[in-house]
Amino acid sequence: MKKILITGCKGQLGIELIRQLKEMEYKLIETDVHNLDITNPVAVRELLEAEKPDVIINSAAYTNVDGCETDLENAFKVNAVGPQNLAAEAYKIGSKLIQVSTDYVFDGTGNVPKREYHTVNPQSVYGESKLLGENLMKEINPRHFIVRTAWLYGEGNNFVRTMLRLAKEKDELSVVNDQIGSPTSTKDLAKCIINLMETDCYGTYHATCEGSCSWFEFAKKIFELKGIKIKVNPITTEELNRPAKRPKYSVLDNFMLKLIGLNSFRSWEEALTEYLND
Ligand SMILES: NC(=O)c1ccc[n+]([C@@H]2O[C@H](COP(=O)([O-])OP(=O)(O)OC[C@H]3O[C@@H](n4cnc5c(N)ncnc54)[C@H](OP(=O)(O)O)[C@@H]3O)[C@@H](O)[C@H]2O)c1
Repeated sequence: MKKILITGCKGQLGIELIRQLKEMEYKLIETDVHNLDITNPVAVRELLEAEKPDVIINSAAYTNVDGCETDLENAFKVNAVGPQNLAAEAYKIGSKLIQVSTDYVFDGTGNVPKREYHTVNPQSVYGESKLLGENLMKEINPRHFIVRTAWLYGEGNNFVRTMLRLAKEKDELSVVNDQIGSPTSTKDLAKCIINLMETDCYGTYHATCEGSCSWFEFAKKIFELKGIKIKVNPITTEELNRPAKRPKYSVLDNFMLKLIGLNSFRSWEEALTEYLND
């Protein structure tokens, strides 16, 4: 039976990966920062040498995009040194390694969905730290899959939950209307990762739900599907004035997944409808 080690198990993606993998014929090693801090090379080496997993899925990350701007050292430790530690040990024991990355490695210019071969140019500490993590993993362990996703929601804190909570507290909301992306369900992403890890098609993949919208349109759809009547005002990124710069147009094209016949992502509206009905 194949052994899969998952990091960041208590995070949104980690929870869904465990849920889906438990239904299958795998032996799971579930870790999060309490039992495997990926920034600690000794802890990573000891656990990987003892367990020798066939596959490692790194869903651990420092995901607070604004927090990364002021906590630069930790951002780079978790998002770059963590993957470096995992890659070094994975290489020694011959494991496949899956690194989850982000649309924030791009600068968000243009209006054409980004493919895997397009030039990266991160605009935030979060994006830079995730890009360094990608590069270290590529340099160290050839058996890698880099899976770039975006606007993720699942079990835990995310935009959908925030909108539903705010709708209970306020009469009207202001939501950014000039950042475009693809809301992506952890269900679709976990399924994609599990399919990919069974192949030897190593490389970089874009992995988001199909279609795109602004955060404002995303919020309106959430309220429409839940039958919530609330006034939503479109605002600009400048008006919101967050510490980290966000890409304006960060739609990804699942180009490589389509080429190898593994693009199983639903439209963002379909995935969202199921999420809100669960
Ligand atoms: N969320 C998004 O919208 C989004 C968009 C694009 C890409 N991604 C990428 O998708 C992946 C999954 O994201 P997510 O939303 O599931 O993240 P998440 O919910 O923030 O989960 C990340 C998990 O990693 C843990 N962690 C933090 N530092 C760690 C360390 N040093 N060692 C081990 N575990 C550590 C966190 O624990 P604590 O909570 O205790 O810190 C948390 O359980 C990440 O690689 C992220 O960069 C996410």
